Amino acid sequence: MDHKKIVVTFRMICLVAMLVIFLENSNGISLEDNLVDYSELVEDEVEIHLPHSRKNDGFCKFGDMEDEEWTMVQKKDNQFVVSGQPFYVNGFNTYWLMVFAADQSTRGKVTEVFQQASSVGLTVCRTWAFNDGQWRALQKSPSVYDEEVFKALDFVIREAKKFKIRLILSLVNNWEAYGGKSQYVKWGKATGLNLTSDDDFFSHSTLKGYYKAHVKMVLGRVNTLTNITYKDDPTIFAWELMNEPRCESDPSGNKLQAWIEEMAVYVKSIDPKHLLEIGLEGFYGPSTLNRVQFNPNTYAQQVGTDFIRNHQILGVDFASVHIYPDSWISQSISDAHIEFTKSWMQSHIDDAENYLGMPVVFSEFGVSAKDPGYNSTYRDTLINTVYKTLLNSTRKGGSGGGSLFWQLFPEGTDYMDDGYAVVLSKSPSTSDIISIQSTRLKTFNSLCSWKCHWGCKKKHHMETFPYHDEL
Ligand SMILES: *[C@@H]1O[C@H](CO)[C@@H](O)[C@H](O)[C@H]1NC(C)=O
Ligand SMILES: *[C@@H]1O[C@H](CO)[C@@H](O)[C@H](O)[C@H]1NC(C)=O
Ligand SMILES: *[C@@H]1O[C@H](CO)[C@@H](O)[C@H](O)[C@H]1NC(C)=O
Ligand SMILES: *[C@@H]1O[C@H](CO)[C@@H](O)[C@H](O)[C@H]1NC(C)=O
Repeated sequence: MDHKKIVVTFRMICLVAMLVIFLENSNGISLEDNLVDYSELVEDEVEIHLPHSRKNDGFCKFGDMEDEEWTMVQKKDNQFVVSGQPFYVNGFNTYWLMVFAADQSTRGKVTEVFQQASSVGLTVCRTWAFNDGQWRALQKSPSVYDEEVFKALDFVIREAKKFKIRLILSLVNNWEAYGGKSQYVKWGKATGLNLTSDDDFFSHSTLKGYYKAHVKMVLGRVNTLTNITYKDDPTIFAWELMNEPRCESDPSGNKLQAWIEEMAVYVKSIDPKHLLEIGLEGFYGPSTLNRVQFNPNTYAQQVGTDFIRNHQILGVDFASVHIYPDSWISQSISDAHIEFTKSWMQSHIDDAENYLGMPVVFSEFGVSAKDPGYNSTYRDTLINTVYKTLLNSTRKGGSGGGSLFWQLFPEGTDYMDDGYAVVLSKSPSTSDIISIQSTRLKTFNSLCSWKCHWGCKKKHHMETFPYHDEL
C-alpha cells in the first residue's frame, strides 16, 4: 500500500538523518578523543608550570571563564559542578557588604573587596542577606523592607558577578549582630506573644511565619539592576538557612531538627534550582555519640545541633563546618589548634563521604590577631593546614568541596576589624598562599570533568600533583 511505503520511506529518512547527526556529533565532541588530548595537555601544563611558577598564565586557557556561560552551581553526588565541570571552592567571607553598599560613602568598598578577591582567584563569597531591625536594617519589622537597602543587596549581587564571584547568602543570624533570632522574638513579644526564650524562634508558629516571609521576600526579589529574580540568578551559589544555628534550650536536638526540616523544604518549594545549606558549625550531637570525641569540647554536644542528623534532612544539599579552635579550645594559640583543625576537618570529610554523600564546605575559619601567642606565621600555618587537608580529599575526588576564610577586608576598614580581618595588601605571604590554592583548584576544576571518568583520571594525574612543600 502506498501509505505503508510512505511510512517506511519516512522512517528510512529519519534513520539516515539521525545517523548523520550522530556521526557529526561524534566527530565534534567525541568524549574519548577529547579526553586523551585534554589529559595529555594537562599533564604538560602541570609539570611545566605548576611547581616552578606562581603565575597562573599557563592555566588561563583551561580555567578562563571569560567565554563560558554563567550557569547555576549544581551538585553531582559529593561534588559541586558548573556546566558539567567540577567546581571546587576557594572563597571568603565579608559579612557587611549589603550595609556598606547602602551608603554612597562606603559603597566603593564592596567593589574593592570583590576586585581584590578576584585578584587572588577567589570565586565564592559568603555574606549576609539579613539585617533585622538594626541600623540600616533590610527588614525594619516583619515584612517591612527598606527598599534602599534591598537595592544595596542588588548592587552586591551585580558587583559579584562582574568579578565572577558567586555568593552564599545567609538568611538570618543565630547571634544578635544584625538582629538575629532575638530580634524575631522581640517582634513577637511586641505583638503580645508570650515568648520566654530566643529559641522560641525555632518553634513558635508566628516567628516561623516571619522567617518564611523573609525567605519568600528575598528569594522572590527581582534585582533592580539586572532584572534577574534572585531565585533564578546563577550568581547566587547557595542559600544558607541561618548563620551558626544553635538551640541550647533543647540539647536533644529535636527542636532545631524540626525547624531545619520545615525550612529546608520551604526554601526548596520556592527555589528548587539553588543549592541549600544550613549554616551549622559542625558539632556532633546525641545521634552520634561515637563521634563527639572529635568535638572541640564537651559543651559542643549540648547546643542542640547534630552534624550528621541535621544534614540528612531532605532539601539540604551540602554540609557546612566552621573551624575556630581559638574560640572553642583556648584563646591562646598553640600547636594543639593545628592538630584539632586537621582532625576536625578529616572527620567531617569522612562523614560527608560515608554517611551524607554530599560535599562539605569549611565555610568559616580563621584566627584573631588579638589572641595571645598570635603571629602572622601562625595564621599562614592555619590557612595552609586547611588548604592542604582539603586538597588531600580533592585529589581523590572526595567530599572536600572547599573553604571560605573569615574574613576578607579591604584597606581602610580597620575600624570594623575584630581581629580576624585579612587585608591582602598588608599580608603578602597570606595573599600568596590564597593565590596558590586558587590556582590549584582552578586546575582541578578545568582538567577534571566528571564526565570523563573523574575518579581514576584524576587519581592518575593528581598523585604527583604538587601540594606539600612548595610554599
Ligand atoms: C508564658 O509561657 C510560660 C511558658 O510557656 C508559662 O509558664 C507562663 O504561664 C505563660 N505566661 C502567660 C502570661 O501566659
Ligand atoms: C530592566 O527592565 C526595565 C523595564 O523593562 C528596562 O527598562 C531595563 O533596561 C532592564 N534592565 C536591564 C539591565 O536589563
Ligand atoms: C609564631 O607563633 C607560633 C605559635 O604561637 C610559635 O610557635 C612561633 O614560634 C611564632 N613565630 C614567630 C616568628 O614568632
Ligand atoms: C588524607 O585522607 C585520608 C582519607 O582519604 C586520611 O586517612 C588521611 O589522614 C589524610 N591525610 C592528611 C595528611 O590529611
